[in-house]
Amino acid sequence: MDFDKLQAVKVERQGGITFVILNRPEKRNAMSPQLHFEMVEVLKELAEDEETKVLVLTGAGESWCAGQDIKLFFRELDDKPKERHLARLANHEWRWTLLSSFPKPTIAMVNGYCFGGAFVQLFACDFAIAADEAQFGLSEVNWGILPGGLVGKVIVDGLSYRDAVWYSMTGDSFDGKKAAEIKLINKSVPAVDLRAATVELAETLARKNPQTLRTIKESLRLVRGMSVDQAADYLLAKEREMRFMDTESGRAEAMKQFLDDKTYRPGMGEYQREES
Ligand code: COA
Repeated sequence: MDFDKLQAVKVERQGGITFVILNRPEKRNAMSPQLHFEMVEVLKELAEDEETKVLVLTGAGESWCAGQDIKLFFRELDDKPKERHLARLANHEWRWTLLSSFPKPTIAMVNGYCFGGAFVQLFACDFAIAADEAQFGLSEVNWGILPGGLVGKVIVDGLSYRDAVWYSMTGDSFDGKKAAEIKLINKSVPAVDLRAATVELAETLARKNPQTLRTIKESLRLVRGMSVDQAADYLLAKEREMRFMDTESGRAEAMKQFLDDKTYRPGMGEYQREES
């Protein structure tokens, strides 16, 4: 895929870290149908891209994402059922289906505004680090609409019920520090340190066994909706699957280094991988 042909999205690489950048800064990276279509293609392309060890989702300019484009995604599609249907499919496909199951670790690097629909991709990412100065808000109530398109679902699953109701019914906005306090994100740092903090986390993840990371993220997401018995059985099956899928035999190697070679303490860091 030729990333240079993209208009609403940019892709930049730094070592094994791939930055996917929503690129409509003049519209605060509000999500247009074109942005949705491009993101579907980008995420499909990067999923099995060997250079991508960790994906970082961020925004160009002063905004992370100002939600759906009210003009291009809503008003202009109101009377175009076919276009609306295709845009909605793409919107759901990248922000939930492709991103939440992306086979590598994903980090939301929230550099500025994060409103409304942007909460879906925020929760679809495995990690979230924001600038202290970023502004978050469930502004739907101020538009006379509800937090739809999965926003209502991700906030009740991911926040305390009290916070989900508070912020969606008041529309109050809050900064990165507050977002960290209510556990919407992992942490916030001053804007000048945001990229370095994100790269540090990405580099830590890039050193670990990729198949292990993939299986951990897949299984943690899925067991949330399972009964205890189902989860126990599923996790056992995943553990067995991993031994088959892990081309670097991490489990056996870690045991060898700990038990036989006595060169490694799992509580103190990762085992020595051949690749690393
Ligand atoms: N949809 C469509 N256009 C949007 C947009 C959105 N969600 N968010 C911002 N824009 C556009 C503005 O209309 C403006 O366009 P213009 O230059 O053609 O007039 C441009 O982006 C810049 O926005 P502006 O409001 O001037 O920037 P700001 O920095 O003063 O404020 C926000 C930024 C994000 C606080 C403000 O734009 C806003 O409240 N946007 C709506 C956010 C929202 O509620 N999203 C959820 C939708 S459900």
